[in-house]
Amino acid sequence: MKDILLKTASSESVIHCGSGSFERYTQKYVGKQIFVITDSNVCSIYKNLLVKTFGNYKDYVIPAGEESKNPENLLKILEAMLGSGMRRNCYVIALGGGVVGDIAGLAASLYMRGTHLIQMPTTLLAQVDSSVGGKTAVDMNGVKNVIGAFYQPEEVIADPLFLKTLPDRELRCGLGEIVKYGALNKDILNKLLKTDDLFSFDFLSEIIYDCIAHKTEVVKHDEHDLNGLRKSLNLGHTTGHALELYHGEKSHGEYVLIGMLFELYIAQKLGVCAAQYAEKLKKLIFSVINEIPSFADIASAAEYALHDKKNNDDKISLIVPVSEGECTEIKLGLSQYTNYLIACSKELKGE
Ligand SMILES: NC(=O)c1ccc[n+]([C@@H]2O[C@H](COP(=O)([O-])OP(=O)(O)OC[C@H]3O[C@@H](n4cnc5c(N)ncnc54)[C@H](O)[C@@H]3O)[C@@H](O)[C@H]2O)c1
Ligand SMILES: [Zn+2]
Repeated sequence: MKDILLKTASSESVIHCGSGSFERYTQKYVGKQIFVITDSNVCSIYKNLLVKTFGNYKDYVIPAGEESKNPENLLKILEAMLGSGMRRNCYVIALGGGVVGDIAGLAASLYMRGTHLIQMPTTLLAQVDSSVGGKTAVDMNGVKNVIGAFYQPEEVIADPLFLKTLPDRELRCGLGEIVKYGALNKDILNKLLKTDDLFSFDFLSEIIYDCIAHKTEVVKHDEHDLNGLRKSLNLGHTTGHALELYHGEKSHGEYVLIGMLFELYIAQKLGVCAAQYAEKLKKLIFSVINEIPSFADIASAAEYALHDKKNNDDKISLIVPVSEGECTEIKLGLSQYTNYLIACSKELKGE
């Protein structure tokens, strides 16, 4: 077990990583006023563990899935908290993936202007990414994360125990983000290249700590996404997200990896990323995803990238790998970007 401290101008989060951290660090909440927010899948698997750990607690269970991350459920959670007599000093525990973490974090920030918040991420993606850094949100009218707040959890308990019940698709999803960290951090990259099994429980248990350590360093210096540093965490995401919106059949992390492939192609064509390094990253990407969908009308997907909220002008902003541990931002007009996507798509299909 290892701890990481995330100290920002206004708050302090302690992040406990490793096997055994759930059992060890939940003990202090026993007897406190606890409100657990979780989803239907996690509840059905871990209800007994919750009862055994906390004894008496109140909870609210949202249906599993991104569609639950909405203002209606946010209000239902707040009503349930009020209805069950939660005080301002209660402990909101978010036990689940990023969906639960995001909506529970926002509920905790709003209820009586802010309660204690403990994130207990149960997906690989939530452990390496969403539970850390204080971004909370719900979606509205089809727009992702449009209502939200920065609200740091006091504690994050990232115990790989939960990965044992995670479906393969969700592991792949988390690995997408882990490979992204590899493109941002030399040490993570070397570990990823060295292991003979990216999916092994022991390997993942170790790399989760490295990814969180990387993210906390970034968040420390750009908590509110203002100076461009935090933007680096969006590597692969502009194209990945556009393909996700357009195609929508694979997991988010797999689209991040496919987005990285396209963006690597662009970075190479522009002479920003050397071929040898790009090949290393590509090999890694293909060790997580086994096939690239054939995108019939990739030009339509490209248009989604134009509406990405990270663009602050009419250009498409991409964070691309340069060399080990280094990335940069490039900006492209829509037609140039579309042409690159079409050319790369043809190359991937072997045309
Ligand atoms: N706040 C941030 O900084 C941040 C960063 C990245 C992503 N996100 C958000 O995170 C969300 C995606 O998170 P996610 O990928 O964890 O999805 P998710 O929360 O929907 O979980 C994926 C699936 O796994 C199930 N599940 C969770 N834990 C399980 C376990 N231990 N065993 C078996 N099944 C389990 C869930 O019920 C769900 O069906 C998105 O809404 C995204 O916007 C937020
Ligand atoms: Zn992501």
